[in-house]
Amino acid sequence: MTLTPELDPFKLAKTLSAKHLIGGKFVAARSGKTFDVDNPATGEVVATAAFGTREDVMDAVASAKAAQKEWAKMAARQRGKLVAECGRVLSNHVEELGRLVALETGKALRTESRVEAGVLADMFVFFGGLGSELKGETIPFNPDMLTVTVREPVGVVACIIPWNVPLLLMAMKAAAALVAGNAVVVKSAEEAPLTVLRVAEIMNTVLPPGLFNMLSGFGPECGAPLVEHPDVKKVSFTGSVETGRIVYKAAAEKLIPVTLELGGKSPMIVCADADMDQAVAGVLAGMRFTRQGQSCTASSRLFVHESIHDELIAKVKAKVDAMVMGDPLDEKTDIGTIVSDGQLERVRSYIKLGEETKGATKHVCSAMPTDPRLSKGRFVQPVIFTGLKNSDRICQEEIFGPVCAVIKWSDYEDVIAQANDSEYGLAASIWTRDIKVAMDATRRLEAGFVQVNQNLVVQPTLSYGGVKTSGIGKEASLESMLEHFTHKKSIIFNMK
Ligand code: NAI
Ligand code: MG
Repeated sequence: MTLTPELDPFKLAKTLSAKHLIGGKFVAARSGKTFDVDNPATGEVVATAAFGTREDVMDAVASAKAAQKEWAKMAARQRGKLVAECGRVLSNHVEELGRLVALETGKALRTESRVEAGVLADMFVFFGGLGSELKGETIPFNPDMLTVTVREPVGVVACIIPWNVPLLLMAMKAAAALVAGNAVVVKSAEEAPLTVLRVAEIMNTVLPPGLFNMLSGFGPECGAPLVEHPDVKKVSFTGSVETGRIVYKAAAEKLIPVTLELGGKSPMIVCADADMDQAVAGVLAGMRFTRQGQSCTASSRLFVHESIHDELIAKVKAKVDAMVMGDPLDEKTDIGTIVSDGQLERVRSYIKLGEETKGATKHVCSAMPTDPRLSKGRFVQPVIFTGLKNSDRICQEEIFGPVCAVIKWSDYEDVIAQANDSEYGLAASIWTRDIKVAMDATRRLEAGFVQVNQNLVVQPTLSYGGVKTSGIGKEASLESMLEHFTHKKSIIFNMK
């Protein structure tokens, strides 16, 4: 069966209302309850989502468990082919998925949402090609014994995802888990349940029923019973440190492995000799201003050498001022809205904290949209705070919003120490033309992902994940698939 792309996101949102996808079919929540999904640009309710509870979790895990048995018997390369086929089919839906994710998250279509939908499809194609890489080893253990290892799937995998980049984060988990021979139950974020549900519907036109299930709901009612379910043998979670700890504890009770990707406060260090234009572009990309700063890898702690500080900040501000805030679905829009009231409140409280921070200067960028249709939208003007100390709370806590915290520096040893003085360790970057400084910094910065003279986002093939409280484990690579979604079994044949 082939689905026709539905390019009207409002219509699509309505048709996806009040449903989970379990066992290859759309079903209502067992409780009959739903919750509202709104358009963050207007506050209008555009759809509802099924309010998942333990009973729905039981159904989804049972379907996954049944489907996984046959799937694991399939040749790995054949599984990969089907996952790559999901990617190919999803690539026909990029425009549709981009529009829908823009509608439910408030991320601008041109700069963010359409791009994310493309990366989703690409992630499935990437992992789909790795089926035949699920290899074991031959161990020269004893000449009279043939000793080998094989990779086996773990079984049913729970994927719990947030709302900021729901498609990409879901794809990194689900594509790898499926190719490795597992079945998947995804619990979508309450702020963004629709587009991933459509992705599930599309994938179910390719995959056997029951293998890929999608539940919507809230953490305590739906996420927690999923983690606790005895037949869930692995949890891959992306979200806050606070929830990550809860998930880790629940998994510890069952002694099952977890992967946690938990955000950060990533440093970007600009040296005096950096290419100014490149560094300015790097701040814009790193801060994810087009995503309202709602990124775990956002380089939200900006260390600028004192000799270029004022020039760089002025140039960054001018660039952000030139960005258009507006309706996420409008092609002219660069910057959309904050996802939810909760996040809006959080961002505003941090802006207030910045205003109250001793020595801080606030630079407000861009302009609020003037369209009266958007008067109830969750728009926040991007803010740059200069004059901060790394020990200020605004430099230590993850805001997850368009707030850039700037610290002026003069001594290299000191700036490296400050960059590492953080509970987080997800990403970091250094901007310099001096190869020795660059190499030294990449070794000393405590982060899972360090870049020189650029701030790229996660890339398929490259292991992605943090150290310190930014998380445990890696995603998006061959190694991540092998290490996080399979068990290695050792087998000895006695040949005597
Ligand atoms: P959250 O960590 O509460 O939610 C992430 C996911 O976990 C959602 O699907 C949620 O329903 C689920 N969840 C919540 N409680 C759970 C439980 N007890 N058991 C199982 N699943 C549960 O994040 P939230 O509330 O959306 O955002 C709060 C802050 O977290 C943000 O301001 C940001 O700082 C950080 N965050 C980091 C992200 C990242 O990419 N690392 C993504 C989203 C948020
Ligand atoms: Mg939460």
